[in-house]
Amino acid sequence: MAQMDGGVAIFPGAPESVRSNDVHHRYRQDSDFFYLTGFTEPGAVLVLDPENPKHRYMLYVQPKAPDKERWTGRRVGVVGARRQFGADAAFEAEKFRADLQHLLIGRPRVFLRMGSDPDLDREVLGHVASLRARARAGQHGPLEVVDPTPALAESRLLKSPDEIEHIQRAVDITALGHLAAMRVASPGCHEYEIEAEIEYEFRKAGGAGPAYPTICGAGANATILHYITNDRRMRKGELLLIDAGAEYGGYAGDVTRTIPVSGRFNDAQRALYNVVLGAQKSAIRKVKPGTTFDAVHHAAVKKLAEGLVALGLVEGPPARVVKSGDYRRFYMHRTSHWLGLDVHDAGRYTSGSGSSRPLEPGMVLTVEPGLYVGAESDIPMPFRNNGIRIEDDVLVTADGCQVLSAAIPKEPDAIERVMSGR
Ligand code: GLY
Ligand code: MN
Ligand code: MN
Repeated sequence: MAQMDGGVAIFPGAPESVRSNDVHHRYRQDSDFFYLTGFTEPGAVLVLDPENPKHRYMLYVQPKAPDKERWTGRRVGVVGARRQFGADAAFEAEKFRADLQHLLIGRPRVFLRMGSDPDLDREVLGHVASLRARARAGQHGPLEVVDPTPALAESRLLKSPDEIEHIQRAVDITALGHLAAMRVASPGCHEYEIEAEIEYEFRKAGGAGPAYPTICGAGANATILHYITNDRRMRKGELLLIDAGAEYGGYAGDVTRTIPVSGRFNDAQRALYNVVLGAQKSAIRKVKPGTTFDAVHHAAVKKLAEGLVALGLVEGPPARVVKSGDYRRFYMHRTSHWLGLDVHDAGRYTSGSGSSRPLEPGMVLTVEPGLYVGAESDIPMPFRNNGIRIEDDVLVTADGCQVLSAAIPKEPDAIERVMSGR
């Protein structure tokens, strides 16, 4: 509100979304809306109006309606919106359209994320135009529409202690899923059986479920970055790549582990795995205040290039492999993203001048290098069809970093130990 400079801000909640016919997806609130309010019901609108002497924070919500609540669940209603969510004033959602023009009068700008709700965009612009026409009568409306997303993203990027606790809990639940996967994966299992074990643990521990579709890919499937079909029977000698994260209290975990289906890495797999692990550790060592976001990526790329050359998969020298980008044949994504309410969380990756952004305490990012080796004829046989990614969730602290997902084994011997206890 301190940054709004006399403006009024309007945030519609997320729309409900149809899965098929008359069945909806389970509702999830828009992340910005949730960040500002904690309010999780559909059909709501948030208005922030710092110039309003009495009502700076207003919620428009679906009213109590026992006949409707019988079907679709409880609503906190107008009174609950004030009592439980701290709104200065709350109204029935239906009233919002009628109040809209009044909310805009005398405000120099309106904060609205255009393009998300075209009907609302049209109505706001309609009121802006009609207030402009009434300027001679002394009524002034907003002269500009400003996207609140970037300012909010900056706030969301720096996590509060309470948010960090939520992310840690999401990651702790995520750990239960990954450990279960290590205990049950074995030749003959289907990829979906592993997915089921993981998501069972997520829900059983009180998570909302997976924060994104669980990836369980073995053998060649591990080399498909967003493989979520998860329907193949796994075979001895394959690596299984599991990218799975729980959502808890709105916050996401995002962890990848790669394990041998039979419980033991073969020599080629272990060699590849150790290259990725070395790259991941080197990148994590870079995570501290002042290092740039890109420096974390470059630390990983340097180690991956060295490893690829050492294994004979790419022709060296490593410095040239980095410069030419030849490593991209086996590593085609970036090493990190912000993590929070969204798996790929809000916040710029560059500073004002366009250069990579220095890390600050309170930021949370993933570190997730990988190598994805296909089956082309120039690739030595033992390396073919192996996909490896190792992904941890890392908090930037005052003097370095804390790996929130450190409890999930990633040393090859440690993984084999967990798997041998099956
Ligand atoms: N699971 C999505 C990602 O790793 O970015
Ligand atoms: Mn990730
Ligand atoms: Mn992931």
